[in-house]
Amino acid sequence: MPTILVTGGTGYIGSHTVVELLEEGMEVVIIDNFSNSDRKVLDGIAEITGKYPLFEEVDLRDRQSTYAVFKKYPEIEAIIHFAAFKAVGESVEKPLSYYENNLLSLIHLLEAMKRYGVANFVFSSSCTVYGEPDSLPVAEDAPIKKANSPYGNTKQICEEILLDTQESTPENRVISLRYFNPIGAHPSARIGELPLGIPNNLVPFITQTAIGIRDYLKVFGTDYNTPDGSAIRDYINVVDLAKAHVVAIRRLLDNRQKASFEVFNLGTGKGLSVLEIIQTFENATGEKLDYRVVKRREGDVEQVYADTSYANSELGWKAEKGIEETLLSAWNWEKFIHSKKSAL
Ligand code: UD1
Repeated sequence: MPTILVTGGTGYIGSHTVVELLEEGMEVVIIDNFSNSDRKVLDGIAEITGKYPLFEEVDLRDRQSTYAVFKKYPEIEAIIHFAAFKAVGESVEKPLSYYENNLLSLIHLLEAMKRYGVANFVFSSSCTVYGEPDSLPVAEDAPIKKANSPYGNTKQICEEILLDTQESTPENRVISLRYFNPIGAHPSARIGELPLGIPNNLVPFITQTAIGIRDYLKVFGTDYNTPDGSAIRDYINVVDLAKAHVVAIRRLLDNRQKASFEVFNLGTGKGLSVLEIIQTFENATGEKLDYRVVKRREGDVEQVYADTSYANSELGWKAEKGIEETLLSAWNWEKFIHSKKSAL
């Protein structure tokens, strides 16, 4: 069975992907520096799968420590690179730390790949590269728009770095997965999203409000040109998303790529508004959510959802879970962490 290096493997999407890889029987080596995660996530992964993944506490900004991992595990055949900073607002305040962390980590991994003969790479990208799209749904060939945050720019630059590296290293095979809005948690409620401090993203804010950590949810604008006036996104279940990584890895290892650099959109293809998410959360969980409409959040796009036809036909992957089930999984996870905290 192949050994896969998963950077950021204790993070939100990383941990769910590690579970899916282990359940497929693959070997996993995780690299993480716990900058936005917790060592206990490893226990959650082991509780679900019955296996502890191999783990190295390494900061990818450190070239030598990164190389040391490749030296220690010559069996690594492919990399899934999640490790990156991802908060849009924070990236505006600290652009250099975003460029340093997100670009340097990728560069060191690419150098290590060349040095240690690893050719297969899956990159964690984002629909943020499309900015405010000209037409909907958004397909992979939609134009890349000027990034509206340093975070978004790091995703664009990283994709360019990967593409440019193909010229000099044609043996490399890369799949860039552009995620829409990943939400929810593993159905076991043993792993999920662990936001540090006040959450920026909608669903963790909703679940924290419902459980009483936050007073009320702010809905950022109901004056958009959408049916109910609130902004529209394509919310994709994190387990569905994780499974797409397993499919991408198999595609690389089985040599089924059409080109040495491929891009796929990962979404459901369905756009839902903020107000629809609130309504569905209330219906699915039976919890009443206190919310207030406030002005638009700067930098937000009006609507974005994926054209999933290429991922469906070419990758052979489709999002399967419904939005009720997904929001319920986020709620069960919130209750689980709350019960743990209360017990301390
Ligand atoms: C954005 C990026 C995404 C990136 C993510 C990282 C776009 C289209 N998407 O997601 O690529 O990976 O940031 O954080 O640029 N909302 C509220 N109240 C809240 C929080 C959010 O109303 O308290 C609304 C937002 O205005 C938005 C929707 O909920 O309309 C989703 O917001 P969020 O979860 O933050 O994700 P994006 O901003 O879409």
